[in-house]
Amino acid sequence: ATFAAGMVGAQTYPERPVNLVVPFAAGGPSDAIARLVGQSMSGTLGQQLVVESVGGAGGTLGAARVARADPDGYTLLIAHVSLAAGETLYPNLTYDTATAFAPIGMINQGPMVLLARKDFDAPDAATLIQRMKEGGEDISVGHAGVGSNSHLCAVLLQNAMDAKFTLAAYQGTGPAMNDLMAGSIDVMCDQSTTAIPQLEGGTVKGYAVTSADRLEALKDLPALQELGLDGFDFTIWHGLYAPAGTPPEIVETLNAALQVALDDQKIVDRFAAVGTAPFPTDQRSPAAHDEKLQAEIATWQRVLGNQAE
Ligand code: MLT
Repeated sequence: ATFAAGMVGAQTYPERPVNLVVPFAAGGPSDAIARLVGQSMSGTLGQQLVVESVGGAGGTLGAARVARADPDGYTLLIAHVSLAAGETLYPNLTYDTATAFAPIGMINQGPMVLLARKDFDAPDAATLIQRMKEGGEDISVGHAGVGSNSHLCAVLLQNAMDAKFTLAAYQGTGPAMNDLMAGSIDVMCDQSTTAIPQLEGGTVKGYAVTSADRLEALKDLPALQELGLDGFDFTIWHGLYAPAGTPPEIVETLNAALQVALDDQKIVDRFAAVGTAPFPTDQRSPAAHDEKLQAEIATWQRVLGNQAE
């Protein structure tokens, strides 16, 4: 009887709105990706994906909420690199990152952009790097909490520049961007998805991209590698998750709706305009997503193992 009930549930899923947890503040890059992809998936599934922002502790509070939710397909998580890095950086997580989730599929990947407040005294990236090296703790760098992409970028910059800045934590780069625009912090790395609209609006200054290569959408900005930060190569990704134990039929239904979104030319074009890209089709299955998550947990353990509390 339980089996039959489960089958009926999977066939009629979803019967009501689905909660999509964004583990960072509204107005940031994760929120932007969630809304874009969520809108398309809502259309495909015939039920609304309702975005709920649960910020704090570098994304681990929102992840914990989803890890302990009923595995019925009605609570999902959009998460990125911080999910993998959190396993190393937060020794007291309430969930085991490697096993607490049912990966649904990879979403997008793209670089971050090194930004400074508009009136920061640096005409180009080489000068900004020089000023950051000399300034050390006098330079304030905003980020979205320990383990977030913007925080990892700041840590990688500190290592590459052999400097220590004053790091300022926010619940997301949305609110951090507001302070960068207001000039109350000096520098931030933000994902291209939210950095590019700000650069187009002229509210902050853009200096370099964090990927090994230049970005088509920001051709004038050098890669950090071109500026003497040898080997600097940071590309971020987002993926969609359900709690572990979610019926495979539901995971497949969600994966199929995600594929529709990522094959939608309007979304592909919108992604390209803000410097990010859908994962290639052959890397978007739940199994490929799980492989990516496990590999990223290992990568960040290697990079950050000496930085855990
Ligand atoms: C956000 O949505 O605020 C970002 O994804 C945070 C980050 O990782 O920098």
